Amino acid sequence: MSSEGKYALITGSSRGIGRGIAVKLAEQGVKVAVHYYQNDGAAKDTLARIRQHGSDGFVVQADVSRTDEVRRMFGRVKGEFGALDVFVSNARPELPTFYQAPMDITLDKWDMALDSQAKAFLVGVHESARLMSGGGRILAITYAPSARTGSWQPWVAMGSAKAAMEALVRYFAVALVKRGITVNALSPGLTEDSVLNSLPQPVQDMSRTWHEAGWTPAGRLTTPADIGNAVRLLCSEEAGWITGQVIAVDGGASLMDTVFPLEIQRG
Ligand SMILES: NC(=O)c1ccc[n+]([C@@H]2O[C@H](COP(=O)([O-])OP(=O)(O)OC[C@H]3O[C@@H](n4cnc5c(N)ncnc54)[C@H](OP(=O)(O)O)[C@@H]3O)[C@@H](O)[C@H]2O)c1
Repeated sequence: MSSEGKYALITGSSRGIGRGIAVKLAEQGVKVAVHYYQNDGAAKDTLARIRQHGSDGFVVQADVSRTDEVRRMFGRVKGEFGALDVFVSNARPELPTFYQAPMDITLDKWDMALDSQAKAFLVGVHESARLMSGGGRILAITYAPSARTGSWQPWVAMGSAKAAMEALVRYFAVALVKRGITVNALSPGLTEDSVLNSLPQPVQDMSRTWHEAGWTPAGRLTTPADIGNAVRLLCSEEAGWITGQVIAVDGGASLMDTVFPLEIQRG
């Protein structure tokens, strides 16, 4: 899939990882629908950056936990672009709306996580595939460790939602492969300029120190540009045979073995 003249929708591209993806695709001439929830100023700023790279697009608002709004968002994409080549399901609601430990979690919080990830992805794939007549690329942004571990207790709803999203990736990959549409998930490492920056400073500092000490072998946190680069690779013509995969984009963090302290592992 060559990028010139292509159209992308990236949910949650007003800021964070979504913005990084939008800018990287814009550098290649892809026109981008910049989706946001509440922060229209940030969405307009992403669009301005897209235009600085010589591309274009528009901003579109929607609550992705509501199916009617997801459908309305795709209606707008159809009206503005008439077609779609890339759909990235990246938006994630704010922590207080889903963050609660397993024995306390309310059904509202559970529903928010599942609706904004698994259900929004399900509906988003149905809607985007209708607009992809000449092949395409569908990407889910997951956090794979949370889909297979259980230690980060208040993440239970989001971890379950990401696990469901990853399962959907595999089923849709098979369903759409003959139409030239690939479906993959990318799993970023802990990322700078994202939700991390909204956490208390001590949490940010401890997290950076932890990864720089070796729990990310590359010695630094992920950046939104790293994820944008990975999306760009998967959108290339040459990536057309890669489908149904959950790909870690994390400088090696997912390769770490937690059984022994780092000092022992280093030898
Ligand atoms: N950050 C990390 O370290 C990390 C690591 C692994 C995976 N991820 C995944 O990467 C994705 C992006 O994370 P991030 O940290 O970059 O996000 P972020 O900076 O917190 O930005 C969240 C984005 O989602 C939008 N959003 C919030 N609530 C929404 C709702 N109800 N409906 C629609 N959109 C909504 C926000 O729009 P407004 O700006 O309008 O509020 C914003 O664009 C998420 O799926 C996350 O799970 C992140």
